Amino acid sequence: MYRTHTCGELRIADAGMRVTLAGWVQKVRKMGGMSFIDLRDRYGITQIVIDESASPGLNAAVEKLGREYVIQASGLVRERQSKNSRISTGDIEIMLEKLDVLSPAATPPFTIEDESDGGEELRARYRYLDLRRNPLKRNLMLRHKMAQQVRNYLDSQGFLEIETPYLIKSTPEGARDFVVPSRMNPGEFYALPQSPQQQKQLLMVAGYDRYFQIVRCFRDEDLRADRQPEFTQIDCEMSFVEREDILTTFEGMVKSLFRNVLGKSFEEPFPRMPYSEAMDRYGSDKPDIRFGMLLHEVTSIVKGHGFAVFDDAPYSGAIALPGGAAYTRKQIDELTEWVRRPQIGAKGMVYVKYQEDGTFKSSVDKFYTGEDLAAVASSVGASKGDMILVLSGEPAKTKTALGALRIELGNRLGLRDPMVFAPLWVVDFPLLEWDDETQRFYAMHHPFTSPKPQDLPLFYSDRKEDLARVCADAYDFVLNGTEVGGGSVRIHDSKVQERMFEVLGFSHEDAMARFGFLINAFRYGAPPHGGIAFGFDRFCALFGGQESIRDFIAFPKNNQGRDMMLDAPSRIDDSQLDELNLRTTIER
Ligand code: AMO
Repeated sequence: MYRTHTCGELRIADAGMRVTLAGWVQKVRKMGGMSFIDLRDRYGITQIVIDESASPGLNAAVEKLGREYVIQASGLVRERQSKNSRISTGDIEIMLEKLDVLSPAATPPFTIEDESDGGEELRARYRYLDLRRNPLKRNLMLRHKMAQQVRNYLDSQGFLEIETPYLIKSTPEGARDFVVPSRMNPGEFYALPQSPQQQKQLLMVAGYDRYFQIVRCFRDEDLRADRQPEFTQIDCEMSFVEREDILTTFEGMVKSLFRNVLGKSFEEPFPRMPYSEAMDRYGSDKPDIRFGMLLHEVTSIVKGHGFAVFDDAPYSGAIALPGGAAYTRKQIDELTEWVRRPQIGAKGMVYVKYQEDGTFKSSVDKFYTGEDLAAVASSVGASKGDMILVLSGEPAKTKTALGALRIELGNRLGLRDPMVFAPLWVVDFPLLEWDDETQRFYAMHHPFTSPKPQDLPLFYSDRKEDLARVCADAYDFVLNGTEVGGGSVRIHDSKVQERMFEVLGFSHEDAMARFGFLINAFRYGAPPHGGIAFGFDRFCALFGGQESIRDFIAFPKNNQGRDMMLDAPSRIDDSQLDELNLRTTIER
């Protein structure tokens, strides 16, 4: 047996026991004729001591140890003189009696401690060393616990975990596919699933009723802190259900995760907000409802005073920044630059200070009287000491810019404590999104999402305005301003499905070529069904109080989609290309 205990296990009650531990040398220290080894494994750190003069042989062996050597150490557990309350084994130490080096280690490229001195790139290259650090270990343990809890809950609700293939045909989730060439079928490609959407619907046709899978999905899209090219979903589908059944079931799952993983209870049902309200009040389809500073439309109040920017804009909206009346010119300029960044896209920003003495000061004093500005302040619900920030332009873009400004200010004001949680369902998304460039509608969620039954008459209308107003039976689960999950009730009536393809501009042949198997399957008895998929990496990161999902994934990719450790993607041999009947146009 390599060890009798782990490095996180021994307590004061074990004093007097002879034990053997195995692990990595975190550090060796010398002090007053004694040497101390911090021995680390997955479970913790235990201190090992050697009296240099009493055991010269052992001491010589200890002197040869370097950081990250793997050793086996045996000895007697004793109470420590200077206890360390920061670690669970801090009351004891082990008097070393026998030491074996199981594996020497080269000097690691960075220190493997909670606060590492290694830069991000270096740590990514040596991910297996970075993973030895506590912060990452905690994240992966949290992820494991969440996965177990998801399985327990869904199993208790009668869900079956069923695997679906990774080598499939393109799925329409809106991103680019990763493709895999087929050697046996020259010139043909598989696509990796953006999600198992069609397979899970086919499982419903097959009668499997309640399906789930913790499954890898692949999307070739631009990366951000909360996006990876391969990520994991908790993918779920149910038959013989309406929206309410689905929301109740998965609200139960989320609550069980909160309760069993974080010890937080949510007694009340999660709030629900229509998409239109989310956009109008929060400027986002994933509102962070933990703080106020809501958007207010002021278009009609600010129009007609000779200020061309507001007069010409179809929409003007404002938010009130608490304490903003005290902002300096420099601070306001900085905020203005912030909203003008290309990612935010506002052309400019008007400010109105509601000063402590009740008077107003603004960047548009030439056009508005104190009374006019008071009307703006009252419609925004501003108080003395606030500053009102106004953006104007095309409605959707301007609301989104205000929403981004609201989140930025919420961050700056410390209103977004990562360990305060506010779950929310966003419901009633539009079914269709018009794209000016290609002059056609796109499915906002995906083409299998059902229109709300009461909107079917609009769905069959030929007028663009009517179609744009059709609501989908779709919902997102939002946590603290992050979209964690999304799903919908599906179309199970082939006539409705055909109409959907028609609206999306697919000919019957196109639709059959792309989704023929699903359309055909529906001819053989499709139950009413619907489902949802949660972004598991995002869920874990939020539970861990962090924004980036990267450190909740054992081996993630960087922002360029590269695995720095494996140095992938990489070129392949000409012979491999030949075998696949491929030729690249890149100089080799
Ligand atoms: P959707 O495309 O909304 O729905 O994806 C579901 C959830 O997956 C997460 N997610 C991601 N996480 C990390 N990196 C990415 N690149 C990434 N892309 C998406 C998000 C998102 O809410 N088949 C449908 C679900 C359904 O209708 O049942 C689907 O995939 O948290």
